[in-house]
Amino acid sequence: MSRFTSRLLTWYRDNKRDLPWRGHPDSYAVWISEIMLQQTRVETVIPYFEKWMKRFPTVEALADASEQDVLNLWEGLGYYSRARNLQKAAKIIVEQYNGKLPRNLDALRKLPGIGRYTAGAIASMAFGLDEPALDGNIRRVLARVFDVNVPADSPTGEKVLWGLAAKHLPNGEAGDYNQALMDLGATICLPKNPRCLICPVMKLCKARELGIQDQRPVVRPKKKTPHYVHAAAVIVRRIANSPHVLLAKRPSKGLLGGMWEFPNARVNGDPAKELTQAIQTATRLKVREKEALGTVEHAYSHFSVTVHPFRCQLVSMSENQNLKWVRVEKLEDYPMGRIDRQIARQLI
Ligand code: ADE
Repeated sequence: MSRFTSRLLTWYRDNKRDLPWRGHPDSYAVWISEIMLQQTRVETVIPYFEKWMKRFPTVEALADASEQDVLNLWEGLGYYSRARNLQKAAKIIVEQYNGKLPRNLDALRKLPGIGRYTAGAIASMAFGLDEPALDGNIRRVLARVFDVNVPADSPTGEKVLWGLAAKHLPNGEAGDYNQALMDLGATICLPKNPRCLICPVMKLCKARELGIQDQRPVVRPKKKTPHYVHAAAVIVRRIANSPHVLLAKRPSKGLLGGMWEFPNARVNGDPAKELTQAIQTATRLKVREKEALGTVEHAYSHFSVTVHPFRCQLVSMSENQNLKWVRVEKLEDYPMGRIDRQIARQLI
């Protein structure tokens, strides 16, 4: 075992974070937590994980759930394809693997939503296999300790970092090793102002020796993301003496797939002026604007958007399977992205 690994593991034994999926002997729990943690911080994930395990305690429970229930539980975590892929994978695991996650890396990687990182994490943490797992925290730790001077997200950088992760992996202790690296990255080897003075591998860290911690990992300049402006129609109508609002279900693939939203369309100029025409072109709904509601902004990974919602009167609509009149009190049952949830909450 390298000096780096032995110091790391010793530190981990005394300092590991107490997280609800740790010490869970259940590969299902490890899988769920790893998918949730892919793009989301530990503190955010914990309550979602606990709720999820109560609601869908087994692979079978997840495979049998409705997509609406699954997306509802995921609401607020973002990157909703993760939830849809979890359910697709659960069905495959029930049908092909008797309800148990396969105990090998290649079979894991064939499941929807499981890439190289997640397969390595599950294989090492749930099954004790000697597999590395490289996430953002681990990339940063390794890039600093071993002074990796190529961009971490370039093909060469990827190769070098996976190589380092594998090279220092201790046989039989990969789960602890991977999680030790994650914890070190999350609590000490921070992106900004790393806490080098209390780091267990300070003396071995090349970036620290050179004083270039803030230049590792090397990152490529980020592209500017575009900004869009949308107008949304909040169409309220009394049905059976209770107020209903018209929602549209998004296509099952792509951004916010399968989730609900207020009918909306992109505009180029004044949202109030373009609303009627834009909504008609995008949704074939004819509406008349009545009143502007509070504007909502959100940044996705690849673009940001400002949505101007308007209370509208419906002039006419044509048959459309993706539209549904929903009782205003029932809006919480319909999974939505952040923007539409904020609009919905202006109505109750
Ligand atoms: N981030 C991703 N997986 C993790 C784990 N198992 N422990 C801590 N942080 C993580």
